[in-house]
Amino acid sequence: MAEEYSKVQWFPGHMAKARRKIEESISKVDLVLELCDARIPRSSRNPLLSRMLRSKPRLLLLNKSDLADPAETSRWLAYYEKKNVPALAIDAKSGKNLKKLLPAARAILSEKIAAWERRGMTGRSIRIMVVGIPNVGKSALINALCRGGGAGKAEVRDQPGVTRENRWFTVGKGFELLDTPGVLWHKFEDPRQGESLAFTGAVNDEILDTYELSLHLLKKLRSLAPKKLAERYKLSEEELALSEEELLRTVALRRGMLISGGEADTERCALMLLDEFRGGKIGAVTLEQVE
Ligand code: G4P
Repeated sequence: MAEEYSKVQWFPGHMAKARRKIEESISKVDLVLELCDARIPRSSRNPLLSRMLRSKPRLLLLNKSDLADPAETSRWLAYYEKKNVPALAIDAKSGKNLKKLLPAARAILSEKIAAWERRGMTGRSIRIMVVGIPNVGKSALINALCRGGGAGKAEVRDQPGVTRENRWFTVGKGFELLDTPGVLWHKFEDPRQGESLAFTGAVNDEILDTYELSLHLLKKLRSLAPKKLAERYKLSEEELALSEEELLRTVALRRGMLISGGEADTERCALMLLDEFRGGKIGAVTLEQVE
C-alpha cells in the first residue's frame, strides 16, 4: 500500500515553477521560515529544501501543534535543539506561540543585525520568506502575522504591478515577509512519507484509494493512540482487536452509516474517519516519532 504513494507527486508542472521562484527569491531574504506539520515532522519537510536554501538561516516551525500530541512535540523540539536546528511549535490558526516567532528570528540573526548596525544600517528590516508543502498552513501563518499576531500592529504593503506571489508584507516593527508560491517539488524517497502525507490531507484525496487509506490509518491509530480511537467511536476492547476491515464496518454501523440492505457503508465511513482525524476530532495524535 505505502508503495502506491511513492508514485504520488504534487502538481508536477507547478513544482518546477515554484522551485525556480524560491531559488530566485532566496538571495532577497535574510531568513527562511520553514513550516512543517507537527503530526508528521519528518515527512512534511522537503529534503530538497536544504539544497535550495544553502546556508540561509532558517527557523523551523512545527505548525498545527494543536493537532499533535504535546509530549511528542516536546520530543521533536528537543531533537532539533540537539541538532542545532532552531525550531518552534506553533498553531497558526489560533495564533499560539506566534509572539515568539519574530524575537526568535531576531535571535537567529543577531550577529548579522550587529554587523548591519556597525555599518550604520540601523533601520534595516529583516526580510523573511515562508516556505512549506501544500496545506501546511503558510497562508494561515501569513494572515495571522499580518493581523498582528506576531508583533504589534501589522500593515500590508502593496506594490503596484507585482503579483500576489511576490508581495512583501510588513509584519510587526522591522520585519518584512515575502509571500512565496505554495507548492514545492517533492519526490518521496521513503514510501511511508507519501502515506503520512495522505493521512494528514497534504495529498489530494482524488488520486488516492480512501478506503485503503482509512484501513491503514486505523492500524496506525490503534497502535499509537488506542484509547483515543476507542473513546471517539465507543469501541470495546474486543472490537479494537478486530481486523481493520471489521473495525471500519463496526464504526460505520455505530454511526448509522448504511447502504440499502442494512450493510455498513464503509466507503462513506472511510471518508468520515479521514476527515475526523485531519480535523483533530479523534484527538491530538502525532504519527511520526523521533527515532
Ligand atoms: P497553505 O497556505 O500552506 O496551503 O495552507 P493554509 O494556510 O491554506 O492551511 C491549510 C489548512 O490548514 C486550512 O484549513 C487551515 O485553516 C488549516 N491550518 C493551518 N494552520 C493550522 C493550525 O495551526 N492548526 C489547525 N488545526 N489548522 C491549521 P482548511 O480547512 O483548508 O480551511 P479553513 O476552513 O480552516 O479556512
